[in-house]
Parts: sequence; C-alpha cells; structure tokens
Amino acid sequence: MSNMICASFTLSKVGARRLTIQAASALRATEPVFRDEEYADIDWNNLGFGLTRTDYMYVAKCTENKEFQQGELSDYGNVELSPAAGVLNYGQGLFEGTKAFRGDDGRVFLFRPDQNGIRMQIGAERMCMRSPSVQQFVDAVKQTSLANRRWIPPPGKGSLYIRPLLIGSGPILGLSPAPEYTFLVYASPVGNYFKNGMAPLNLYVDNEFHRATRGGAGGVKSITNYAPVLKAVLRAKEQGFSDVVYLDSVHKKYIEEASSCNIFLVKGNVISTPATIGTILEGITRRSIIDIASDLGYQVEERCIAIDELMEADEVFTTGTAVSVASVGSITYKGQRVEYKIGDEMVSQILHKTLVGIQVGRIEDKHNWVVEID
Ligand code: COI
Repeated sequence: MSNMICASFTLSKVGARRLTIQAASALRATEPVFRDEEYADIDWNNLGFGLTRTDYMYVAKCTENKEFQQGELSDYGNVELSPAAGVLNYGQGLFEGTKAFRGDDGRVFLFRPDQNGIRMQIGAERMCMRSPSVQQFVDAVKQTSLANRRWIPPPGKGSLYIRPLLIGSGPILGLSPAPEYTFLVYASPVGNYFKNGMAPLNLYVDNEFHRATRGGAGGVKSITNYAPVLKAVLRAKEQGFSDVVYLDSVHKKYIEEASSCNIFLVKGNVISTPATIGTILEGITRRSIIDIASDLGYQVEERCIAIDELMEADEVFTTGTAVSVASVGSITYKGQRVEYKIGDEMVSQILHKTLVGIQVGRIEDKHNWVVEID
C-alpha cells in the first residue's frame, strides 16, 4: 500500500473525530470553543513528559542496502526484533524528537521537521546506517501526527511529541553494520519536560562523568549517548537537582550540555552557548534560539565556555525539543551553589515566548520554520 493510500485510509478512520471549532457568541471571535469529543479522553491539564499510548505509528524498512521502502501507518504496538538485531547487540540506533502544536484556531503545525530529517541522515552516516530521505522523514512525521490528531493537546496544554527512530533491525553477530534498518515514528502527548513544570531548574555540574569525548558520537543523536548519563542524572535527581551539566572530558573545564538539552548563558547583552565541535548535540531548538536572539538584537556567540564563566553569568537557560526553553535558577559545582535572576523580564522568557509564539502560529514565522499540516 502506498504512503498516500495508507494515509488517507487511516485518516478517514480518524476523520470522524476531526477538530471542529464552534463560534461562541459569548466569547471574542479569536477564542474558539473546542468540542471535547474531538480529543482523546485524557486529563489534558496534567500532562507531564510521560508516554501515553496513541493510535498509530509509522514503519518503513530498508533491506539489502537498497533504498528505504515506502512506509505504512499501523496500529501502535510492540515491534518484533531478532535477538541478534544490530541495535540490541551493538547499539546501532538513532532517535529524533520533534513536536506537533495546535494553534489557537485549531490548525496543526510542525516545527522544522526537515532539520530532524537532516540530522538523522548525518547521524546515520556516523553510525554506518542507511537512512530515509528527508522527504520521507518529513512525510512520516506528518502522517503520524495527523493519524494521531486526537492526541494533539488543546492550545496551551502541551504538544504531541513525535519520536522518529532509526534502528539496525537486521541480525548481525560479528561487529559490523546490520543488514536491515527500520525507520519507525511514534507519538505521545506531552506537557512540561521537568517535573516541576516551568519552575527554574537547579542544575548540577558533574565532575566525574562525561557525556561525550572527542572523536565519539556526542554530536549525533545516537541512542548510545543516553544510557551512560543515567547514573549521573539519577544521582543528581536524588539530591533534588533537575539535570546534570557535563564538562569536556579533556580539560574538565569547558561546559558542554545537559543530559537532555543544550545550555546558554547571558551576560549583559551577549548570549553565549558552547560551540558544537563534535561532542555537543546540534540542537534544533538551540539553533532556532540563536537565530531568534540575533533577530531580536542580541549578540550571540558560539564558543568554548569555561565553567567559571557560567558561574558568573547574569542568567542561564537550557534549550531542547522536549524542554523548549527553561530558565535555570541555580548551578552547583564542587559544592558551590550560585543563584541566577529569575522572572518574567528575563532574556530566556522573551526567547521562550517568541519561540512558542512562532511554533503555534501566533508570531510571524519569517524564517519559514513552521509547516502547517491540515
Ligand atoms: C528531545 O529534546 O527531543 C530529546 O531528545 C531529549 C530527550 C532526553 C527527551
């Protein structure tokens, strides 16, 4: 079944639940009323960043070193894998994260999905994997979002987090690239990433564990970058911290990123973030915030940043697809805790509001980042 046929078949099943907007005379014309029956029956007011099972996922395969076949939507469910799959034995896998947002008028938007597709291709090259074309990637994200439309949260309640995966699914015993790859996209409605919502983060700078090393795979979204930081994250969370900031593994001096997001500091009118030189993920939110900040007239620098400079900043914030833009309230390093200004007038708040405004179609999208998918 072709993508097109598959998508229309699936959407007609979902079509009965499609969003409709009722004009409400008691409200201003800009305040639509959303009918409950158009949404999945969950508590939209208490979404965290947990997995909620949605209706459909997308799967495409690539065998014998050929191109990826056309993918199909199927019911969301478990996948069958050989015990000898490359991903299970040697960690040959990449993931992505992107989001679908509902605008105030009910329209559905994706944010720069092509950038995730490009990043997956770069990661696949590093990990010796076959990858889908950017067009197939974006098409798969669109199909998965629309098929799961009833799970896209109402305006202001969150977003549909979309998780594309690329895995070495073929069996391989000797250390070698897998003979088959699977591209899979699933989705889950989410709210704030951190458990305390939008409260400023308390970050811990780890002096023992490193996230990535020069020549490693820290610059791509390999699944192998995430399990090794769990120990540091769990230890920090037990002590009440929100996340961990890692230092470079050579000098143990320059900040790199946090476990789940990139990091920025503000000093005067200058915003700085570590340059991505192979050990730091090229965050799509990171790049978007650099562009938004430049548009707003800030000087933005990408360079090496010593931990001492972070401790002396006026303001610190983190960025990521899951995290969006999160203000940092404190950083603890070698037993010393510094606290930063927080409040509505913060640079991070201005950047956050601008980013979200663009993502939900409320602020002019002058870079053409937003893709409407109705
Ligand atoms: C994302 O921001 O999309 C990520 O992949 C981070 C992950 C740890 C949730």
